[in-house]
Amino acid sequence: MIINKCLFPAAGYGTRFLPATKAVPKEMLPILTKPLLQYGVEEALSAGISNMAIVTGRGKRSIEDHFDKAFELEYQLIENSKKDYIKKINDITDAATFTYVRQKEMLGLGHAILSGQPLIGNEPFAVNLADDLCINENGENILFEMITIFNKYHCSVIAIEEVPDDQTHKYGIISGKLLNNSDNTFQVDSLIEKPAKNQSPSNLAIIGRYILTPDIFEILKTTKPGKSGEIQITDALIKQAKNGKVLAYKHQSKRFDCGSIEGFVNATNYLALKKGIIK
Ligand code: UTP
Repeated sequence: MIINKCLFPAAGYGTRFLPATKAVPKEMLPILTKPLLQYGVEEALSAGISNMAIVTGRGKRSIEDHFDKAFELEYQLIENSKKDYIKKINDITDAATFTYVRQKEMLGLGHAILSGQPLIGNEPFAVNLADDLCINENGENILFEMITIFNKYHCSVIAIEEVPDDQTHKYGIISGKLLNNSDNTFQVDSLIEKPAKNQSPSNLAIIGRYILTPDIFEILKTTKPGKSGEIQITDALIKQAKNGKVLAYKHQSKRFDCGSIEGFVNATNYLALKKGIIK
């Protein structure tokens, strides 16, 4: 089994970024000069995946345009002796294939993943929530590491990180025990979506990277709406976890929650400093 495809759920409303997200998809907001979604696509490419499956929705057409050729723009750049930019706009378009499906109603992340089934088919796949920007500093790549774990254990793998006790209500949280110290894996017994501080089984929070086995689609079809009335991927994973089929990987990347304004600003400052744009 090889991971050939990466699914990008990108249909959410991005309410926290209104009014910016009224006409611009949250996933197209730039950190420096690149949209969030492009960082996700580049991460998948460097993990060895070249087939990008994107779940979009109404008002998200600019995503398709971004990953397509732009002949008029190329012509203008050549005419105006700005050829250097051509590579910047074409590299990503040439390196990957992009397929799209629309989530017709925004019924939650689990529903968005289920909407991607026609693009994925019956094979294990990666999921990347591009608003969780993972900067892989020392040559590591979070998706690549998760694929390596998948190849060893052949079951779903979810990325986790430790969060402060007063932050658990913002995340899906796992309960489980350390499986292998050398590859930072935990055997997941159960999961709970956004628990209150005193009801959280741990402070190990799920972030936006998953490797999922395709049986998740059948489970999602019968998963009832949970917290906030949305179909939660966490609830579907509980069923796999009960059969011992979910591992968690404590990742080593630097992650920014770019779905929040604070995380978005921090990511921008971090990369601007790193690239010497600001001091
Ligand atoms: P979020 O809950 O962070 O995104 O979902 P949101 O709903 O767009 O943001 P707010 O809370 O309104 O500000 C995490 C990811 O899941 C996708 C989002 O696009 C985001 O990438 N998502 C969420 C969907 O594709 N469909 C949904 O129905 C819900």
